[in-house]
Amino acid sequence: MTENLAEDAAPVRDGQIKRHGPDGFAGMRKAGRISAEALDLLVDVVKPGVTTNEIDDLVRAHFLKNGAVPATLFYRGYTKSSCTSINHVVCHGIPNDKPLKDGDIVNIDVTCIKDGWHGDTSRKYFVGEPRRKAERLVEVTYEAMMRGIDEIRPGNTFGDIGRAIQDHAESQRYAIVRDFCGHGLGKLFHDAPNVLHFDDPGFSTAVLEPGMFFTVEPMLNAGRASVKVLADGWTAVTRDKSLSAQFEHSVGVTEDGVEIFTKSPAGLDHPPYLPKR
Ligand code: MF3
Ligand code: CO
Ligand code: CO
Repeated sequence: MTENLAEDAAPVRDGQIKRHGPDGFAGMRKAGRISAEALDLLVDVVKPGVTTNEIDDLVRAHFLKNGAVPATLFYRGYTKSSCTSINHVVCHGIPNDKPLKDGDIVNIDVTCIKDGWHGDTSRKYFVGEPRRKAERLVEVTYEAMMRGIDEIRPGNTFGDIGRAIQDHAESQRYAIVRDFCGHGLGKLFHDAPNVLHFDDPGFSTAVLEPGMFFTVEPMLNAGRASVKVLADGWTAVTRDKSLSAQFEHSVGVTEDGVEIFTKSPAGLDHPPYLPKR
C-alpha cells in the first residue's frame, strides 16, 4: 500500500491529521531532545533572584549552539524564545526582568525548530521551597499528563487521552483549563488536530494512527477553570487568581504505542529534579 506521508508534501495546515514516517520520527527525536535538554539545563538555574529574561537567554543560546532556532521568536508577534508562566499565570507568560521569588512555581515552555521539525515541551519548576499546596498541584498535573500519554496507541481515540487527564484532575478536585489545548505538530508548530485535555464526545472521536505527531499539555487550576488574557495579548491568567500548573510533551503514535520525543535525557521530567543515579 502506498502511504501518504506528510514529509513528502509541503507543510501546510489543511485541517487533516498528518501521518509521518521514519524520517519524521528521526527529525522529531532530534528536535525533542534539544528542547528537553534546554529544560534540563534550567534545573540548576531556576532559583530566587533569577529573572525570566535570563532564563530566556539561556534557552535561545542552547538552541543556537545546537543548530536549532526558537520557534516562538517572532511567532505571531511574540518576541521571546520561551514562555515563563508564574503562579496564577496559566500559559504564555512573557519573560521579563523581574526576579523569581522563593515559593513561586514557574512553567517554562520551549520549542525549537531543528531541520524543520518542532520540539515543544514544558515543565513546572519550584523556585526555592514550594508551598505544600503548590507541590500537590504540580504533582497531579504531571501525573494527569502521563495518564493521558499512557492512553496513546493505535485504535484509541483523542477522547481517551482527554478523559484520562480529566478523570485524574477532577478526582483530585482540580479544574482543567478548556481555553487552550494540545496540537498537532511536525514541520508546522501548530497543526490539526486540537488535542483537548478533557472528554468532549462530539469532538474527540478521531482515532489515533501510527505516525501522528502532537502535544499533550494539560493546564490544571487549583480554583476554577476560567482564564483571561491580559492586555499584552499573551499572558493568560486564572480569573480567580488561583494557582495553575502545566507540563507538555511532544509525542508520536507508534505501531504499538507512543514515543515521547521530549523526555528528559537526564531523567529530570518533573520536580523535585533529583538527577538519575
Ligand atoms: N509553546 C506553546 C505551545 O505549547 C506556544 C507558545 S506560542 C508563543 O503551544 F508565541 F506564545 F510563544
Ligand atoms: Co504546544
Ligand atoms: Co509549548
